[in-house]
Amino acid sequence: MRPPQDNARAIFLIILIFWLATSPDSGPGLIAGPALIKSRVARQRQALGVLNSTQWGDFAPRLSDDPPETEPKYLNLTGFREEDGYVWEDLKRFKDRCEEWSKNAVGVPEAAEPVWQNATGVVHGSWQRINASLPRYHSSYNLSAISPSVSWAAPNSDWGRNVTGAEGKIMVRIEDNEDDETEPEKIDKLILDKAEIKARQVSGTINIDDIEGTGSGWEMRLHGVHWPRQGAMLLTTTSEKFAGVFGLPHLTTRPDFFESSQVLLNRSLDKALEQKERHTLLIEPWTSTLDAPSEAWNPTLHCEYLLYVQIHPLDQDILGVQPSLTGPENVAKAIQDVEDELRFPQGTGHRSIPRLQMSAVLFSPDCAFFLETKGPPAFAPADGIHLVGVKQEIFLYSVSTFLLGLAVIIFGQLQLLKMQMRETSTPSTLGRVSFNTCCMMLLADGMLFTGAAAWSFSASTTLLPSLAITCVSLLSMTIETFFLAEIHKVQEPEWRRQERERERQNAPANPTDTANPPNRQTPANTAPLVSTTPPIIIPSDQDIDAEIAEVETNNANATLPPPATAATATPSAQTLRAQLSNTFGSLLFLGICILFLSLAAASWRPSIRAAYFNTLLFGYLSLWVPQIYRNVHRNCRRALSWRFVVGQSVLRLLPIAYFYVVPGNFAFAEPDWTAFCALAGWLWVQIWVLAAQSVLGPRFGVPRGWMPEAWEYHPVLREDNIEAGGLPIGLVLSTPSSPTSSLERVRTGEEGSRGDKKRTNSTTTNTHVIDCAICREVLEVPVVRAGSDDPTAGGVSGVLARRAYMVTPCRHIFHSACLEGWMRFRLQCPICREELPPL
Ligand SMILES: *[C@@H]1O[C@H](CO)[C@@H](O)[C@H](O)[C@H]1NC(C)=O
Ligand SMILES: *[C@@H]1O[C@H](CO)[C@@H](O)[C@H](O)[C@H]1NC(C)=O
Ligand SMILES: *[C@@H]1O[C@H](CO)[C@@H](O)[C@H](O)[C@H]1NC(C)=O
Ligand SMILES: *[C@@H]1O[C@H](CO)[C@@H](O)[C@H](O)[C@H]1NC(C)=O
Ligand SMILES: *[C@@H]1O[C@H](CO)[C@@H](O)[C@H](O)[C@H]1NC(C)=O
Ligand SMILES: *[C@@H]1O[C@H](CO)[C@@H](O)[C@H](O)[C@H]1NC(C)=O
Ligand SMILES: *[C@@H]1O[C@H](CO)[C@@H](O)[C@H](O)[C@H]1NC(C)=O
Ligand SMILES: [Zn+2]
Ligand SMILES: [Zn+2]
Repeated sequence: MRPPQDNARAIFLIILIFWLATSPDSGPGLIAGPALIKSRVARQRQALGVLNSTQWGDFAPRLSDDPPETEPKYLNLTGFREEDGYVWEDLKRFKDRCEEWSKNAVGVPEAAEPVWQNATGVVHGSWQRINASLPRYHSSYNLSAISPSVSWAAPNSDWGRNVTGAEGKIMVRIEDNEDDETEPEKIDKLILDKAEIKARQVSGTINIDDIEGTGSGWEMRLHGVHWPRQGAMLLTTTSEKFAGVFGLPHLTTRPDFFESSQVLLNRSLDKALEQKERHTLLIEPWTSTLDAPSEAWNPTLHCEYLLYVQIHPLDQDILGVQPSLTGPENVAKAIQDVEDELRFPQGTGHRSIPRLQMSAVLFSPDCAFFLETKGPPAFAPADGIHLVGVKQEIFLYSVSTFLLGLAVIIFGQLQLLKMQMRETSTPSTLGRVSFNTCCMMLLADGMLFTGAAAWSFSASTTLLPSLAITCVSLLSMTIETFFLAEIHKVQEPEWRRQERERERQNAPANPTDTANPPNRQTPANTAPLVSTTPPIIIPSDQDIDAEIAEVETNNANATLPPPATAATATPSAQTLRAQLSNTFGSLLFLGICILFLSLAAASWRPSIRAAYFNTLLFGYLSLWVPQIYRNVHRNCRRALSWRFVVGQSVLRLLPIAYFYVVPGNFAFAEPDWTAFCALAGWLWVQIWVLAAQSVLGPRFGVPRGWMPEAWEYHPVLREDNIEAGGLPIGLVLSTPSSPTSSLERVRTGEEGSRGDKKRTNSTTTNTHVIDCAICREVLEVPVVRAGSDDPTAGGVSGVLARRAYMVTPCRHIFHSACLEGWMRFRLQCPICREELPPL
């Protein structure tokens, strides 16, 4: 029998998978597809012909300050025509900005400083937006004229990637691959020193966060050309309304850039188109969206971008070139050495690697704005130093280090868990541990496992550390699952009993309840309880220590009586398994939902994204809350050892701390001390509550009546209760005025009145002295005098005084430490074998 929500879950999953599998292809489908692609490839062939047949200066659009008699020149390329209406009036301004940026960074072209030759790396920084000279709106464009045969999705709404705020953040990830096309095409390795690569194809991913404007962030892929000698790059988006990569040579700033890029693109685009003509379903290599298939069928409108990047020269102090050898050739040679050492480490000594720094200008020719990175000379270095980051090798190194550290942390968690499981091996101790706390740990480790496993599939450099994480978290998951199964086995009867009780409470008129846990000690309740269970006193030579030792050595849990299950029939193993797998199913479902939501969160606006992750982590770090609740609910404490609680808290907080407080973390997350302190403080508070529960009692400070009644092992003892039978056996012996038949038996069974002296130590309490049956040592019990009120009864000191002794429902009294030790193995009174409510 499957519960109905199980089916709902399955249906939801199927819908999710279906949606994921089908949503990209909402276009013309397979029949119209090939024809559509053919016509598109034909258009691109024509564009390549334009690229092939044009020269430097063929694209000279009308500038805003041009005299009217000058003859502007346009290209017959989508987006580059006069009638398309893009703001090419600002092309000169764009080129001027690029030249200026380069000059600020490396100096004049004739004496440019050497820079990194391999730009592969990650940089980030902030930008400011500058209006183009003329505004443009989406209504400024006649899309059916610009791209006649294309059906746009939602053509009349605002375009995507439309930056409106004055400032924001940007992250640029450059992939400068050795295997990409270069100009000249082939280099004779023997004369490598003389022949140099003039231009190389390059691609980059940029994330723009428009914090002040739309609040959104966009991720896009740009393709273009890298001129390694000069350290300049020009990248562009390409779409159905902008033939960016085909017109790219015309957007460069210098004739030599034009020539090298034209030759390079002529060849590489020709190759790409040839491949497309053969395999029509290939996606374009120059597409700018990351979910390329949907873009092919149903393109969405977004602003086009040109990105000019200038790599900055290296910090020569860090590079460590000798002062006598600071000529450009020597610096270039030193850079070459560092890059070789980074890529193919030979172990030639550790030295610090200079950072990767770039400045960038973005220009959107259709949405009419510039984005410029902030930094000197226009801004003080405190406001921004353009884009800074690290080269890929350094980035991967820090990722690997983080992953290895994470693996060690999970291993530590695993050790703590194993230690805790050794301590928590009996039904009585398992009954105290909160199932939900362990579920949260399992959920977190399971998600980590999923993430690490997925990462391992695509990781090359970080394969080993991510495999380590996968293995350790799998191990951790397995052991947690086992632990959960044990807890479930012990606690399941209790849950069923609660279920039945709820049902019974709903059904009226059934007051007597045999399965009820023993009630709090009130005169009305205890009197019948005592009279129905006359105490049976075991002979004093009963060797309780030996019995404990025997149980300790005999570690088979199966022989131990399950706690407090006498009233309920044991469920079959099959239903237990079914329930457990149901629980794990829910956890899996929850984990999948959180994973999908977190993936989706990557594209949310930054403030919402931060709020989402803070909330998620807050929920995760609330992991002791269920344990606190269980302590209160069951009136038990010391469920988990201190080493486990503190160790797990610290270990689980450490990876979070990396992203919240380490400034140069590889995710480029901004340090957020406030949020981190809130999270850590919340964890701290939970640990303190657990500590207070352990010292002052789990229900200290919780109003009575909030929680179901549970046996109070540390009651206030008062002499008034003698008549009602409320005082523990043995204590009442000194009071001659209350002889009852059961108490007479006590006198004969125990060693008589050996320890029954009565001492007065205050005006309100007497201290009775009695022997503890477990350790045979003296136990001093404060008893409140008849007729008086103990002022400390409700306070901390009263609570602490009462911690010394424990009174069982069968009215036997012991040292707390003795009875707690005993109850780890048996939930029976050591004297009369009466069943004890769990601690
Ligand atoms: C490029 O132009 C040359 C002539 O300038 C022509 O022979 C060649 O076929 C063209 N190639 C392409 C790919 O258009
Ligand atoms: C521009 O190219 C299209 C084909 O892509 C052609 O039909 C049109 O005549 C060309 N326009 C000019 C002005 O050359
Ligand atoms: C940029 O243009 C918008 C209107 O398109 C205007 O509201 C804004 O003030 C302009 N910003 C600057 C700095 O001129
Ligand atoms: C970009 O946003 C501005 C301000 O909201 C708007 O006026 C303009 O039409 C948008 N541009 C496009 C192309 O959607
Ligand atoms: C847009 O272009 C189409 C075809 O070139 C033309 O028929 C139509 O009138 C134009 N629309 C506007 C509003 O200019
Ligand atoms: C640059 O470095 C990366 C990472 O080591 C490497 O994959 C790439 O091939 C290198 N590119 C060049 C042009 O050497
Ligand atoms: C472009 O490539 C073709 C061969 O595909 C070649 O014939 C032509 O000369 C090239 N054009 C330029 C401008 O390099
Ligand atoms: Zn004792
Ligand atoms: Zn007893």
